[in-house]
Amino acid sequence: AKISFHHSDGNVDVLDVDPGTSLMRAAVTNGVDGIVGECGGQAMCATCHVYVRPEYLDALPEIGEDEEEMLECTAGPRDETRSRLGCQITVGDGLEQIEVDVPDDQI
Ligand code: FES
Repeated sequence: AKISFHHSDGNVDVLDVDPGTSLMRAAVTNGVDGIVGECGGQAMCATCHVYVRPEYLDALPEIGEDEEEMLECTAGPRDETRSRLGCQITVGDGLEQIEVDVPDDQI
């Protein structure tokens, strides 16, 4: 499955990862700038915050309770519709491709 991380300077990291990989894990494993993943994917840190591009929003699972709480604590401003935690979104299984914008701040 394909994940594109768009950075504010115009650079894009495009990754091809195995189905079942979270956006956070993919980014950290491949050294993508701007995704920290401090808590290791437990929805406890909000340093994996991403802005999902609108055309992919419908394919995403609903925001869980822990995710909702952490989205109130993101370093970059929360976008009401596009903000998600990268560790809570997994590619594959109906989501073969996704594009996200990486916030300028995570901490
Ligand atoms: Fe900590 Fe996603 S890695 S909330």
